[in-house]
Amino acid sequence: MISAASDPGFERIDEQRLRSGWGVKWGAVDPDVLPAWVADMDFGIAPPIRSALNQTLSDEDFGYPFWPDGDPVVRAFERRMQSLDWNPLPNRTRVYSDLIQVLQVMIEHATEPGDGIALHVPNYPPFLATIQRSGRRIIPIPARSEPEGWRFDEPDLEGRLEAGGCRMLLLVNPHNPTGRVFRRAELDEYARIAERLDLIVVSDEIHSDLVYAPHRHVPFASLSDDAAARTITTTSATKAFNLAGLRCAVAHIGSAEVAERLHQEPLDYFGQPSILSRVATCAAWNNSADWLAGLRRRLAANRDIVAEWVAESRHSVSWNRPEGTYLAWLDFTGTPIGDDPASALLEQARVLLSAGAEFSEHTHLGTASYARLNFATSEDVLRRLLARIDGVLDEAAGDARR
Ligand SMILES: Cc1ncc(COP(=O)(O)O)c(C=O)c1O
Repeated sequence: MISAASDPGFERIDEQRLRSGWGVKWGAVDPDVLPAWVADMDFGIAPPIRSALNQTLSDEDFGYPFWPDGDPVVRAFERRMQSLDWNPLPNRTRVYSDLIQVLQVMIEHATEPGDGIALHVPNYPPFLATIQRSGRRIIPIPARSEPEGWRFDEPDLEGRLEAGGCRMLLLVNPHNPTGRVFRRAELDEYARIAERLDLIVVSDEIHSDLVYAPHRHVPFASLSDDAAARTITTTSATKAFNLAGLRCAVAHIGSAEVAERLHQEPLDYFGQPSILSRVATCAAWNNSADWLAGLRRRLAANRDIVAEWVAESRHSVSWNRPEGTYLAWLDFTGTPIGDDPASALLEQARVLLSAGAEFSEHTHLGTASYARLNFATSEDVLRRLLARIDGVLDEAAGDARR
């Protein structure tokens, strides 16, 4: 068996290249800062993606596109979903530039101003901002940390959603930032509530290629005929294949009503992802399984490194081991930097994590004691990051004792 450490392409990263490139993760920070914030990976791309992009460049194939057999990204998506035991409906999938655009379009076409939109909190900050800006109301479903991991259940969720005028459930599965992978029984319960309250479900499955065994991703639309008919499934290759700068996403519209409304819109309303982004997405979904397997091994090994660091921490940093994603949602409560860990770590450790408070913005919930660490980097960078964090915590604890 190949160990994570011997997988080519994941062992070393090129800091120089990353700092001088277009990417915001390394480009937007000072030269002495180690970045572990935005959900981009420090690795390169899969060789089949590189070949496909190079081929397109050498063919200089950049006219307005024409797809005689249908959009190849849509076909690649449909095939991939079939491998997860779900058959997307024909002519219901469209390509978008990204998942925030998808959410904006769905909010506009499936809800009215003032409607409630339920989502788990903490959550991906641009989603909270998008709902807030749209004039709809955020109905937070709070996360609870239990000894066995993250829990989102509550005794009368159905009643609360009904009383709150909920019209849409936005499910992020696997969940950002906790890395929770929802169990089939939990999804079944959401599907039951969605049917009872006649909700549209927007299911963001962008991290679904990054699930660690024994967990398994279950597409929400695959749960039942009713779930399929009310779910908008949205995903992209950007997270698992490191293509965020190319901008390409898909959405499959299970709801006939929403599909009909979208059908009324002119094509230019949706925009058009570029040929390069489509070529890369197809190569990712059709031909890059080996690279993805190697990536998963590296990420699983990095997750173990963070787990060991948390377990051995002298400073009561805590987490629940993520079941998917390359994101570690770290709780600094009880440490001397628990008020705003990301700011303290940037200032004193020169390490940039995502600030916890952003993941509950526009809600009454507080996540300021958290910071999200992105561990999609080399072992060397990850260990340097964690050592810097330890240094700050050691010093702060020493100061507190003095
Ligand atoms: C859960 C989730 N959804 C959507 C996105 C947006 O991805 P993209 O900009 O590639 O569409 C991200 C990015 O980190 C994410 O974590």
